[in-house]
Amino acid sequence: MNYKKLISNGKSVREFKNKSIEEKYFNEIESYIKNSKKLLPEINIEVKIFDNKDSYEKLNKIAGYNGYMIEAPNYVVILSDVKKGYIENSGYIGERLILKARDLEIDSCWITFKDSDAIKEKLDISSDKEVTAIIALGYEDGRNTKNKSSSDRLGVEKIVYMDEWGKNASVTELEERGLFDAFSYARMAPSTLNRQPWRFIIDGGNIILAVKKDDFTSNYEKSIDAGIAMLYFGLIIDTTMFDLKWSIDNINKDYKIPDNYEIMGYCSI
Ligand SMILES: Cc1cc2nc3c(=O)[nH]c(=O)nc-3n(C[C@H](O)[C@H](O)[C@H](O)COP(=O)(O)O)c2cc1C
Repeated sequence: MNYKKLISNGKSVREFKNKSIEEKYFNEIESYIKNSKKLLPEINIEVKIFDNKDSYEKLNKIAGYNGYMIEAPNYVVILSDVKKGYIENSGYIGERLILKARDLEIDSCWITFKDSDAIKEKLDISSDKEVTAIIALGYEDGRNTKNKSSSDRLGVEKIVYMDEWGKNASVTELEERGLFDAFSYARMAPSTLNRQPWRFIIDGGNIILAVKKDDFTSNYEKSIDAGIAMLYFGLIIDTTMFDLKWSIDNINKDYKIPDNYEIMGYCSI
């Protein structure tokens, strides 16, 4: 898969044709996810596919921004064991699934929610695992949304700091370290309300990821947003340099990070 191309061509789709996805594509997506790299491979997850039949009605008002559910021919629901980092892991896996779907020319959109139990009850899911992702899948209905490009993103210099918070990295510095490309793709990550909440600090051989927390987004959304950014950054390093491993532990050093940001993990390069 050409991840750079898939990331560059990405956008959320919210208006779908009334056309279901063929079974063979779901099998392909599921086997891809089973065999692909995870953020935290020790956490068990399950992927379930639902069709529109009545899932849309059932989830309306309990999923989507302000309960505004997206109507799509199919939905993916990810269920996960609850362990440290499980939501970040689901963000990483869910976005990987979105890239695979895009490779099969299937469009998608993340759908936020608050209450895993309510979703499980409505969709008749009996499982010890928690719902950690809902993703709409289908084929874009281009009638209203023709050629709409994806939302704007912040420049790399705005989201990458050297040594500590607020010292913006320059493009030249990042190019010298061979990191410009990876950050350029990381900034393309989708995020809740397109808030682009991620900031990276380069500290010698470590890269620290901090994500904004505020009253407009939940802990769930913050953790999914972090997992997606880890995937995008990691995919570029994985395909161009070496196998990157994110650690989701905190790092005990004072980077002068403001109170409304939180360190979500770090990796070594
Ligand atoms: C965790 C998460 C939850 C999201 N929830 C919703 C949602 O409920 N409804 C919606 O229309 N878009 C949702 N989105 C899509 C974002 O609004 C979208 O990714 C962002 O605005 C960037 O636009 P783009 O994906 O087209 O580049 C969500 C995205 C993420 C990452």
